[in-house]
Amino acid sequence: MSTTDQQLSSEEVIRSRHSVRKYQRDVVIPEAEWNEILELALNAPSSWNLQHWRFLTIQEQANKDRLLPIAYNQQQVSDASVNVVVLGDLEANLVAPVVFENATPEIREMMLGQINGAYANNPSLGKDEAIRNASLAAMQLMLAAKAKGYDSVPMGGYNPQALIKEFNIPERYIPVMIISIGKAASPGRASGRLPIEHQVIQESF
Ligand SMILES: Cc1cc2nc3c(=O)[nH]c(=O)nc-3n(C[C@H](O)[C@H](O)[C@H](O)COP(=O)(O)O)c2cc1C
Repeated sequence: MSTTDQQLSSEEVIRSRHSVRKYQRDVVIPEAEWNEILELALNAPSSWNLQHWRFLTIQEQANKDRLLPIAYNQQQVSDASVNVVVLGDLEANLVAPVVFENATPEIREMMLGQINGAYANNPSLGKDEAIRNASLAAMQLMLAAKAKGYDSVPMGGYNPQALIKEFNIPERYIPVMIISIGKAASPGRASGRLPIEHQVIQESF
């Protein structure tokens, strides 16, 4: 059990997650709890199990403040306990030998052939896969944080070139989003959703 008094059901976690933009400053998420949150997030599914995400975590105040202007001075970046820059791996096929290390030689060869073939034959696949799969881990990170009593906000509002330069992000990784996580100072505003009929298409357009 964590800082939450009670364990939330998965439905309660989903329903109570709102983007929070005001955080209590100087709250440190205990390391063991943070590791549990990370472990839950990293359990996300991915195509071929290549785990196309990397989390660049920014917890030190000086680094949060380096990130602040890059995120167009969105104050949550400075106030939250941690910012996670969710990166997508553009060359996730290179991880395949590790992922399939314990497979039989036949399966391993088949999977590596399939994966490397797919990456070689489709120039947009690496980027599509990086963003698609890293986004799943990003969502799971926010839900894991909420389950442990922390709030979050995903952000696309930042300058990617400045981020890459300032934090020395290698060319292999593409920034997908930044997620600030911490203890809310005031709750997120309730956000409505479009009607279900607008969002769900049954059987065929
Ligand atoms: C990809 C993405 C980028 C976003 N970028 C920002 C951002 O830069 N700043 C911000 O305050 N909120 C940002 N948001 C949060 C959305 O505004 C928010 O998720 C939406 O209004 C729904 O509200 P809710 O998260 O509280 O349900 C972003 C959300 C997503 C998914």
